[in-house]
Amino acid sequence: MKRKQNLKINNTFSIKADVTLYLGDRLDLIEQIKQCGDKAELIITSPPYNTGKEYEEQTSLEEYIKAQSQTISACVDILSETGSICWQVGHYIKGSSRNKEAFPLDLVLYPIFKENGLILKNRVVWHFGHGLHETVRFSGRHETILWFVRSENYTFNLDPIRIPQKYPGKRSYRGDKIGKPSGNPSGKNPSDVWDIPNVKANHIEKTEHPCQFPVGMINRLVLGLTNEGDLVFDPYIGVGTSAVSAVLNNRRAAGADIMQKYLDIAEERIRKAWEGTLKIRPMNKPVYKPSGRESVSQIPKEWKE
Ligand SMILES: C[S@@+](CC[C@H](N)C(=O)[O-])C[C@H]1O[C@@H](n2cnc3c(N)ncnc32)[C@H](O)[C@@H]1O
Repeated sequence: MKRKQNLKINNTFSIKADVTLYLGDRLDLIEQIKQCGDKAELIITSPPYNTGKEYEEQTSLEEYIKAQSQTISACVDILSETGSICWQVGHYIKGSSRNKEAFPLDLVLYPIFKENGLILKNRVVWHFGHGLHETVRFSGRHETILWFVRSENYTFNLDPIRIPQKYPGKRSYRGDKIGKPSGNPSGKNPSDVWDIPNVKANHIEKTEHPCQFPVGMINRLVLGLTNEGDLVFDPYIGVGTSAVSAVLNNRRAAGADIMQKYLDIAEERIRKAWEGTLKIRPMNKPVYKPSGRESVSQIPKEWKE
């Protein structure tokens, strides 16, 4: 696709905009998209988890599920026939210390997607290295992405998201291809377990948002589940990571957030992505493994005494 000269960012939805960043409730933006008759090829989001962050009011689990149900049904109304919905969630934690009870949000929300007639393709496990150090339960180091489609005629492009094989030199030992390399020269399927650093303190993509997506993770979904020119929609867009990925890959994007300060950062990131100046961790960069020689890898002398 030929790259346009200028990037058009709107604050209300228009089919002609490259990006829409709407300040307000996600249902209002979905209504605007519906009125324009556009459809999203990919709806990707990480909703609030009802944990009382600065952008959400903590409510009962029942109320939370009701609000999520409204969002999901409205999203299905603007999903294309070949489209996908990816819902990235962790746990809602009730209580504190020993009284903590964990509710895995993918389990809680799965029935809502089924009631809306969607088909689950994968439950991707996102494993990462940083988080709270718990003392009376295991420290949480994974979240999940539920990937649903509307029909079996869904878009899936494996080639742009292949990853290097562990043993590219492997050869077939029987059959027609005996003695020939057995893998695909373009790499292998990235599987449904993704080891991608989460965006915490030292990550090059870190902004002031407490829980932003890593761009590389969203690139995998945008490249795999959409084609150029398609619309990528995020009902809870935060600092705009899904739109950054859309712009980097010549897709259109739209998203809502109730916090102006996040949308300001989103706009700046999207413009930088368009100009090629946004710092991004590459999609398939392996997780850093310490060599063992760094000072922080050494056992402190006090522990040896
Ligand atoms: C988990 S964060 C999403 C972060 C995003 N994935 C990113 O990479 O920046 C959830 C976002 O939902 C926004 N939000 C909360 N209630 C909303 C609503 N009713 N409509 C739209 N956005 C909302 C919050 O302000 C917050 O930025």
